[in-house]
Amino acid sequence: MERKEDDEVVCLESFFINDNYQLTTFTFGSQVFELYCLQSASTDYDLTGQLVWPGALLLNSYLSKNSDLLEGCSIIELGSGVGVTGIICSQFCNEVVLTDHNDEVLKILKKNIELHKSLKTARSCAGLVAEKLEWGNPDHMSEISQKYSGGFDLILGADICFQHSSVPPLFDAVEQLLHLKKGKHCKFILAYVSRAKMMDSMVTNEAIRHGMRVVEVPGTRSVVGNHEGVIFEITLQ
Ligand SMILES: C[S@@+](CC[C@H](N)C(=O)[O-])C[C@H]1O[C@@H](n2cnc3c(N)ncnc32)[C@H](O)[C@@H]1O
Repeated sequence: MERKEDDEVVCLESFFINDNYQLTTFTFGSQVFELYCLQSASTDYDLTGQLVWPGALLLNSYLSKNSDLLEGCSIIELGSGVGVTGIICSQFCNEVVLTDHNDEVLKILKKNIELHKSLKTARSCAGLVAEKLEWGNPDHMSEISQKYSGGFDLILGADICFQHSSVPPLFDAVEQLLHLKKGKHCKFILAYVSRAKMMDSMVTNEAIRHGMRVVEVPGTRSVVGNHEGVIFEITLQ
């Protein structure tokens, strides 16, 4: 039987993708919920988003202690992974748009949103949706800008600065999203986990290069998953 090379590649890719997700319980303050995730991930096909990273634990514990920040807000999260931060936010926000660029990750993100919607009240799920967004992709950015033309009150990111090449496009996306709010206040809350000194300076330098101000939130510097993590608030100058 004749087989096309492309078919073999597709076959191999799906063979190596681990989708043996486990229902896992997370507790942040008084918030307790379950979602599907892996316990360890492969980076081969950029499947880092299949599990919950230390930055998400840091961000969720910060948000659960400061839920007034979220009350009635409209938020977008970049690099959402399985959606652990969005689920916390949906308890308090009016609109929660979770985004990722990886199709496999988007599948489990959507499954977790459905799981959450099936368990919770309509109020807690208001406007909880997933959208495909690759930083720096002009088509994705323009779709988001048109669909959510009123902008967002908050942009969230947890553990999304780990690859040098993706930091400039990340800040391009953040800059466009900050401008969407048109003069009204919008801020980017970044849960940053420091794994390399070069990345530490790159994040600050990229923010400055994009006309932004980076402020460390006092009291948030802590050890998460054997590394130092911190919450930054990033705004347009
Ligand atoms: C280390 S994981 C963090 C996931 C989640 N925020 C957490 O802390 O559990 C990084 C996430 O960013 C996404 N990502 C990486 N590069 C991206 C890009 N260029 N555009 C959009 N998403 C990206 C990955 O698919 C993944 O879900």
